[in-house]
Amino acid sequence: MNNTKELFDLAKSTSQRAYAPYSNFQVGASVLSDSGNFYSGCNVENISYPVGTCAETGAISAMVSGGDKKIKEILIYASSKELITPCGACRQRIAEFADSSTLIHLADDEGVKQTYTITELLPYSFKDFK
Ligand code: THU
Repeated sequence: MNNTKELFDLAKSTSQRAYAPYSNFQVGASVLSDSGNFYSGCNVENISYPVGTCAETGAISAMVSGGDKKIKEILIYASSKELITPCGACRQRIAEFADSSTLIHLADDEGVKQTYTITELLPYSFKDFK
C-alpha cells in the first residue's frame, strides 16, 4: 500500500470515531512522521464550544506522544461537499512540526484532491523570536 492510500484509509476510519455532536461534522487527520510511523486523530467537541479540538490537533498530539517530531505527510479528511482546509490555529500547529518538504493532503470521499506545503497554507508565519 502506498503512503497516500494508507494515510487516507487511516484518516477516514479515525474520522468515524470523531466526537462531534454539536457540529455533526466529523474530521479525521493522519500523519506519517519522518521515522515512518503513522498516527491519527479526530475532532473532539465540547459542550463549551471553544474547548473542542480539531482532528489535526489530535493527530499531532499522538505523533509527539509517540516520540516523533517531524511531519513528512499529513492528510486531512472530511466527507463534505466542499473540500476542507485546516483552520488558522491548526496551520500554526502543523508549521511547528513541518518543513518545506512536508506534504499537506486535503481529501474528501473521492480521495486526495489537493496537496500543499506549509508555506502555501501559512505564508509569513511566526517563527523564531529569540
Ligand atoms: N475541524 C477539524 O477538526 N479540522 C479542520 O480542519 C476543520 C474543522 C472540526 C472542528 C469542529 O469540531 C468541526 O470540525 C466543525 O468546525
